[in-house]
Amino acid sequence: RILILDYGSQVTQLIARRVREAGVYCELHPGDISADFLKKQLGLGLKGIILSGSHGSAYDDSSLKVPDAVFSLGVPVLGICYGMQAMAHQLGGTVSHADHREFGYAEVRARGHTTLLKDIQDFVTPQGHGMLKVWMSHGDQVTKLPDGFKVMASTDSCPIAGMADEARRFYAVQFHPEVTHTVQGQALLNRFVTDICGCVGDWTMPNYVDEAIARIREQVGEDEVILGLSGGVDSSVAAALIHRAIGDRLTCVFVDHGLLRLDEGKQVMETFAQNMGVKIIHVDATEQFMGKLAGVTDPEAKRKIIGREFVEVFQHQAAKLKAAKWLAQGTIYPDVIESAGAKTGKAVAIKSHHNVGGLPETLNLKLLEPLRELFKDEVRKLGLALGLPHGMVYRHPFPGPGLGVRILGAVSSEFANLLRRADAIFIDELRKTIDPETKQSWYDLTSQAFAVFLPVKSVGVMGDGRTYEYVVALRAVQTSDFMTADWAPLPYPLLAKVSSRIINEVRGINRVVYDVSSKPPATIEWE
Ligand code: XMP
Repeated sequence: RILILDYGSQVTQLIARRVREAGVYCELHPGDISADFLKKQLGLGLKGIILSGSHGSAYDDSSLKVPDAVFSLGVPVLGICYGMQAMAHQLGGTVSHADHREFGYAEVRARGHTTLLKDIQDFVTPQGHGMLKVWMSHGDQVTKLPDGFKVMASTDSCPIAGMADEARRFYAVQFHPEVTHTVQGQALLNRFVTDICGCVGDWTMPNYVDEAIARIREQVGEDEVILGLSGGVDSSVAAALIHRAIGDRLTCVFVDHGLLRLDEGKQVMETFAQNMGVKIIHVDATEQFMGKLAGVTDPEAKRKIIGREFVEVFQHQAAKLKAAKWLAQGTIYPDVIESAGAKTGKAVAIKSHHNVGGLPETLNLKLLEPLRELFKDEVRKLGLALGLPHGMVYRHPFPGPGLGVRILGAVSSEFANLLRRADAIFIDELRKTIDPETKQSWYDLTSQAFAVFLPVKSVGVMGDGRTYEYVVALRAVQTSDFMTADWAPLPYPLLAKVSSRIINEVRGINRVVYDVSSKPPATIEWE
């Protein structure tokens, strides 16, 4: 195994991700871990240590000191950015404030004489120098090498951009190999964990399942756990994993606010309660939610009401489970970064998302978040490894307030029922229509697709009669991060089919429109 010591860089988690991609098991721990802990790791098969970046300075922030034991265990060490500076500073070199702070793209001359960089390069200069395209972000730099080290990489403004002591197997780079902008980053980390540390690279998601289960068992001991199951990917995978770890000591609470997609409640109960034997309390709180939402038209007010009611219903159920000591949540790594951003005030609240936070403060429970270090695609792979259905694991995201923000203005059960049916037809046709070029369904070719209910009536004609009914808008977007998005170029025949099916099958809707707005300036949801 590889240990990653975290000194607070924004991208530390990416190191873990890259190491896992190299097929090697790794664990992330705080940078001030004790010498005892480190020594015990040797007994557990520790093969190498990676020191992360940081916003601090090696020479004036003693709280960020790397434990001396790191350099005396006899295992290879890789320092990244701050990790390099700390290594230099603590082993007798010098770190100084750089004249030129370097941020972003840089080209680094790589010295191929080291095991770490041998034959790893992006291009060769006319002078025959092997070069790496990397991503840099630093204000300090190493200005004098510690004893035993040689320069491994350099740029014009940073003569020591990498250093190595091959005898002790200590390596360090000033740039960030863990970010994708560093083209050879994965190759470099692969080299470190396999060739230098001697890890085999056969670690896979099923192995992760075992490790994760062991960690959950260790964490909760004999205690009981409750989890709010929404049917979304994250909470579903968390539920499946925790159930695998502690069985009946997990109770899931599934709150149906009456604003779910068609048959969603049924599917969740089938998958979890019937097929997997998970204990689930299914609360149908439709009336309570509808009552509170009656006549409310402002989107943020609706979100707040739904969020508040959700907490109340959940708390009411949790209070009945007296033995529960833990609240499990499907928090994944991007949520952790996002809420950190929200705390530093950098992220502007365009829409308040109620599914992150809220619950823990009001309940007297310890927090169990077994997916905290995983990215979405890893969560999906984990879900499949745990036996969850493909359709559930690869489902489009669904907002916590559900159809509450897809029915414009005041929400009612009547509108929710119409929207649910229209939405189901749209999704059904997206799944059935295969793009001949990519051989993928349009459901898989879009990142999120849904119907929106517009509470305006328009005139139509059906058979011999005039109709005066509601409008449904179709929304389908393609995006990689949901921060920006393009509307999906759905084929006309698909749109025609969806439109004709909705108008014919859903009495109460006589007009279908397609939303051709990108984000920004529009958002993905309509409210
Ligand atoms: P927008 O509409 O902001 O949506 O472009 C970006 C992504 O966030 C989802 N979304 C929400 N998720 N609670 C949630 O849990 C919310 O209140 C909420 N609002 C938007 C949206 O579905 C899209 O995936």
